[in-house]
Amino acid sequence: MPYSETSFNLPVMQGLSQKQIDAHLKLYAGYVKNVNALAEKVDEYRKDSAAHAVALSELTRRYAFEWNGMRLHEIYFASLGGNGAIEGALADALAATYGTVDAWKIEVQAMAMMRGIGWVLLVVDRATNTLRNIWVSDHEVGHLAGCDVLFALDVWEHAYLLDYLPAQRADYVTAVFANLNWKSVEERYVNKNM
Ligand SMILES: [Fe+2]
Repeated sequence: MPYSETSFNLPVMQGLSQKQIDAHLKLYAGYVKNVNALAEKVDEYRKDSAAHAVALSELTRRYAFEWNGMRLHEIYFASLGGNGAIEGALADALAATYGTVDAWKIEVQAMAMMRGIGWVLLVVDRATNTLRNIWVSDHEVGHLAGCDVLFALDVWEHAYLLDYLPAQRADYVTAVFANLNWKSVEERYVNKNM
């Protein structure tokens, strides 16, 4: 069954213009479209996998890029539109892991300055309830198998170039934190089936 775009009713946000958000949402829509297009093509080629082995392999590799692009953007947009307050069970767990919530935030901000395109993700290993910040290049390189993504910070330049210069990435990250909708992040932590 094809995937559908998620709608995000984001309010006007300080530091993240409507123009920037709209352009970014259009890119997100492209990932959903491509996930569906690739799945359709794979289904077709699967009728004769041996004859289409090379194409199938390449399409499957690309599927990981488009799929993760789709899912990570859904987590990113869902975590925007709030007042920035970080509280609740996940905040407590972050404080237990990093000393303070601010220390966690400082690590995210530092990692977000990594040159190159990608994401800073907060993930949890459910088996041990271990929280960890990781860097993912593109959308799919660097994930920790089996971990769930709780928070996704997009640091591709397309996420902020209409509002900030490349050298102002730190200001963009500050704006994301100021507009955090932590409720959605907390829900992913508490509801293990999300
Ligand atoms: Fe993006």
